[in-house]
Amino acid sequence: MKLLVRDAGWRGLLMVGMCRSNRLAHAAARPYTTAVMNALSSHVHFGDNLAFLRGMASASVDLVYVDPPFNTGKVQRKTRMKTSSDEKGDRTGFGGRRYATEIGASTEYSDIFDDYMAFLEPRLREAYRVLKPTGALYLHLDYREVHYAKVLLDKVFGRECFQNEIIWAYDYGGRPKNRWPAKHDNILYYVKDHAHFTFNREDIDRIPYMAPGLVGPEKAARGKLPTDTWWQTIVPPGGRESTGYATQKPLPILRRIITASSNPGELVLDFFAGSGTTGVAAAELGRRFLLVDENPQAIEVMRKRFEGLPDVIFVGQ
Ligand SMILES: C[S@@+](CC[C@H](N)C(=O)[O-])C[C@H]1O[C@@H](n2cnc3c(N)ncnc32)[C@H](O)[C@@H]1O
Repeated sequence: MKLLVRDAGWRGLLMVGMCRSNRLAHAAARPYTTAVMNALSSHVHFGDNLAFLRGMASASVDLVYVDPPFNTGKVQRKTRMKTSSDEKGDRTGFGGRRYATEIGASTEYSDIFDDYMAFLEPRLREAYRVLKPTGALYLHLDYREVHYAKVLLDKVFGRECFQNEIIWAYDYGGRPKNRWPAKHDNILYYVKDHAHFTFNREDIDRIPYMAPGLVGPEKAARGKLPTDTWWQTIVPPGGRESTGYATQKPLPILRRIITASSNPGELVLDFFAGSGTTGVAAAELGRRFLLVDENPQAIEVMRKRFEGLPDVIFVGQ
């Protein structure tokens, strides 16, 4: 099923289906975005995202995915380790082989907030404003702030525009002794107009049935549509996908979101871009992207990650 409105008729439909009355916010000329949106390229912008968003034109983006700092109260830091085979090395690996480890470069960003919601709210309000009427927002958080963010987004989008809370479940890392180990993130999914939005159900990757014997060979071979609980391993440290950027998210999560909630040629915005995972998935799927991050290390990682991708313009650094 495709729920999609892209032609000039959307304004009429907007009146019927839109979730709140104040949505036709000012379409005042905003110089930066006019330049960006008219181009066919993708962009990476260095700087604070609130200032950037305020410069964007209303209703100019098809999909927003954001993965802000989770308010862990810590600096998020990742240090790369290089291992090489060495008889005198400090580690023993498979088959008793010895390895030497060398400490590589670190990336870090602050995840400490006095008033987290006061940080998030103006950015989410801007995200709502810049979304096209058929657009969607995915907000990626964890148990610390997701419930407060849900209440906030219900106010911004309207409760009827809430679609899902997606649980990204993984199983990695330490296990505390005094409570259940927290091994999932929460992704809140909202649409701007609950009657008209993009959801490319047929294009979504399918997953194996838990009990394939119960559904017959044809269905079993096709697999099933994922539910709102997505099992996906974290980005393996030191693996091919890993950029060394702290809190990098796995590409399959972004591929699924972008496939479902945008169309080829459309524009995907991520204003907490980090290592640029959203950009990689968007480019693979033939979408344009607009990424923002205020951390120079993130911009450096993205420069390397997008090497060889044509039409990516870096702005501001
Ligand atoms: C959780 S990370 C994003 C990780 C990303 N999803 C990935 O896969 O690599 C959050 C990012 O938000 C950036 N950030 C935090 N506050 C920001 C702000 N006010 N403006 C722009 N970027 C910001 C940080 O520098 C960090 O790179």
